[in-house]
Amino acid sequence: MRKKIVVGNWKMNLLQADAAARATELKELVGESSGCEVGICPTFLSISPVVSALEGSCIGVGAQDIFWKESGAFTGFLSAAMIADAGCKYVLIGHSERRGRFGKLEVPESTLGFFAETDETVNLKLKAVLGTSLTPIVCVGETLAEREASKTDEVIAAQVNAMLDGIEAEAFAEGVIAYEPVWAIGTGQVCDSTEANRVCGFIRSVLPASIQASVRIQYGGSVNPANAAELFSQPEIDGGLVGGASLKPSDFIQVIRSAS
Ligand code: 13P
Repeated sequence: MRKKIVVGNWKMNLLQADAAARATELKELVGESSGCEVGICPTFLSISPVVSALEGSCIGVGAQDIFWKESGAFTGFLSAAMIADAGCKYVLIGHSERRGRFGKLEVPESTLGFFAETDETVNLKLKAVLGTSLTPIVCVGETLAEREASKTDEVIAAQVNAMLDGIEAEAFAEGVIAYEPVWAIGTGQVCDSTEANRVCGFIRSVLPASIQASVRIQYGGSVNPANAAELFSQPEIDGGLVGGASLKPSDFIQVIRSAS
């Protein structure tokens, strides 16, 4: 049976001291064992203080992105080895906000080209992570327009296939996919649990047969203490990728317990 995994994505929030304080609070709430795998992805700058705060705890730390090259003239980027060296266990790849696909648009539409993640860069990043100590969490999901045009499955199948292009299936056997419908992110509009379960099952069916049983598929998008138990009780949903509700330890612990 797959172990559920709940990961908090802190996005561009919290200064270092606050991040460390919230990690310490969460560590105390989680205690010795959480019953599921738990992670937090703070900003790059807060990785080190959060790793220190979580020493001796079962909570892992993740980065929100990486670059696919090992080193070189790539100003402002970080490699997989660098974030592993900083103490990370997880890395998010291809979050919709990096793909320029927002549930709630808070930047001028004319700047969307700045958020330049594509299926090809997601694939390159995944290749750079496989074979390292990091567990990749690759995000996929459809926009509202794509859902309304009945293109959900088509869009998601294309994202999953592109992400695995040129990769031996077994290399991703312990990987994680987060199904995050873009329209549900940061909007308070959670995907119905039956539909979320259906899409997670669909993602599994798109994966190569040899890894269908082992890859964990999370749901993400407006998960909170009130809806987490219903979502996580679905057979195809192996946990959650949680944004807003992961910032408050007293809320996040309830989400974690819902998966335990
Ligand atoms: P919210 O939980 O704030 O909707 O964010 C979800 C998300 O994008 C996690 O990566």
